[in-house]
Parts: sequence; C-alpha cells; structure tokens
Amino acid sequence: MKIELISLQQHGDERGLLVALEEGRNIPFNIKRVYYMYDTLQGIRRGFHAHKKTRQLAIVMKGFCTFLFDDGNEKKSILLDNPAQGLMIEPGIWHEMYDFSNDCILMVLADDLYDESDYIRNYQEFLGWGKI
Ligand code: TYD
Repeated sequence: MKIELISLQQHGDERGLLVALEEGRNIPFNIKRVYYMYDTLQGIRRGFHAHKKTRQLAIVMKGFCTFLFDDGNEKKSILLDNPAQGLMIEPGIWHEMYDFSNDCILMVLADDLYDESDYIRNYQEFLGWGKI
C-alpha cells in the first residue's frame, strides 16, 4: 500500500508561514467539502471506515495525530504533525485516527459532499467490498 504525502509549499518570511490550497494545483481533486475535528478527547480513536468513492486530503493545522491505513492486506500507520503536509485518504482504504494531541485541529478536504451511503463502516463488509 502506497501512502501519499503531499508537500505543501510554505511561503515564509519574517512574519511567519502561509500555505495555500488550490484545487487542481497542489490539491489533486475538486474540493467540494472541508471539515475539521478539534477538541478530540484523550484516548479517542475515530474514523473506522472506508469510502467507496470519495477522495480526501487530511492536514493537521495544529498539533498531531496518527492515521492507521488498512487496505485489507496490509496496515500502515503514519504520524501527521506538519501543517505543510497533506495525507491522501483514497477510497477503498480503511482508516482510523488516534493519539490526538490536546490541541490537534485536523482538517480534511473532500471531493464530494457528505453522503452516508459512500461509507463502509463495517470492517467485515470492507474486507469483502469490491470482491466478487
Ligand atoms: P463521523 O463519520 O462519525 O466521524 P469519523 O468517522 O471521522 O470519526 O462523523 C461525526 C458526525 O458528523 C456524524 O453524525 C456525521 C457528521 N458529519 C457530517 O454531517 N458531515 C461531514 O462532512 C462529516 C465528515 C461528518
């Protein structure tokens, strides 16, 4: 399983840093939705789903958290702690997020509107999904 981390150009000067997110330029899909998670309680693990079609990019705006990716054959975890890095969450990949720092603000860009029918929330169903 290939994990795609997108390096976002930082525009820095003596005042600080700025990152721009641009559809079709550094973001490889049309941005239809943006959501963010914050004030996540210590020890909480969330996600526990895969998407059927939706492509997403996760960026930690502040703090850190860890992503677990599972393609049904292999599991990989990756720490996200840099606001200048975007982590692609491709469809068909089971993902969980955990070890949130108290100050973590996790923003996600998505190429489609929220639609519960795009979610696979049952792990057994996920393992069978796409197979004949
Ligand atoms: P949920 O899917 O449980 O979050 P996660 O699986 O990432 O831990 O979402 C929490 C609630 O927010 C749930 O009631 C659905 C709602 N929600 C929206 O209304 N729009 C959205 O874009 C998202 C991601 C969630």
